[in-house]
Amino acid sequence: MTNDAYTLAGEAAAELRSAAGLDTFDVALVMGSGWVPAADAIGETVKEIPFTGLPGFRAPAVAGHGGKIRVVRTSAGRHALIFLGRTHLYEGLGVDAVVHGVRTAAAAGVRTLVLTNAAGGLRPETQNVGDPVLISDHINLTGTNPITGTTFIDLTEVYSPRLRALVREVDPSLAEGVYVAFRGPTYETPAEIRMLRTMGGDMIGMSTVLEAIAAREANLEVLGLSLVTNPAAGLSGEPLNHEEVLEVGRATAARMGVLLSKVVDRL
Ligand code: 6GU
Repeated sequence: MTNDAYTLAGEAAAELRSAAGLDTFDVALVMGSGWVPAADAIGETVKEIPFTGLPGFRAPAVAGHGGKIRVVRTSAGRHALIFLGRTHLYEGLGVDAVVHGVRTAAAAGVRTLVLTNAAGGLRPETQNVGDPVLISDHINLTGTNPITGTTFIDLTEVYSPRLRALVREVDPSLAEGVYVAFRGPTYETPAEIRMLRTMGGDMIGMSTVLEAIAAREANLEVLGLSLVTNPAAGLSGEPLNHEEVLEVGRATAARMGVLLSKVVDRL
């Protein structure tokens, strides 16, 4: 942690408030690849603010990762900050850049954070491609942490049991699972996937865990959702590619959008 990272988030939050014409926001949602098309169902767009120009933000380099913040008003009158795109550790900008959106949302008054991602399924026996899975816990194998110094933060319940119960009321069919994060940008080897299955992982991806940790530091209530876009390496015999991740997102956008809008209005 440098003080600067929090100062920069405060500056970005001030810009966001004034650009949106709002003093505070009820919830922030980070849309992972595959989830961006679902954003349209959450509410009416009040304003779209490109990352470029907001202090500390940079346009993401990867297709399907967007690059702006959409301010939305839901049918129930809630105001949401929707991050269309995120910064990943593999972009090489450092851990503060990865969690800057979360810190900005917290500084803007958000108390609830919804983190979404596309993930490889580690349990093809029970997971179908296109299924959303509630994240119950995570294993951080990125090799880093957004908190530096001697601040000890409890991670017993990173992903709020209250929010998970609320989502299951909306969709009782949702499974829960443990999300494992590697740094990327390579997908995993089949041997690594066998290791992760043995370790108790259910989904594998390259995001979410650092943002969830930063959110807990800021005392936000966190909900995590993975969209299983493919079986992980070695589990299907097929090679992996990013285009298939985006394709599954497009195919499931309507379902994910309805799920998210119901969740946001019940928060
Ligand atoms: Cl198999 N691995 C990782 N790290 N990220 C993914 C994925 C797999 N599938 C979608 N995203």
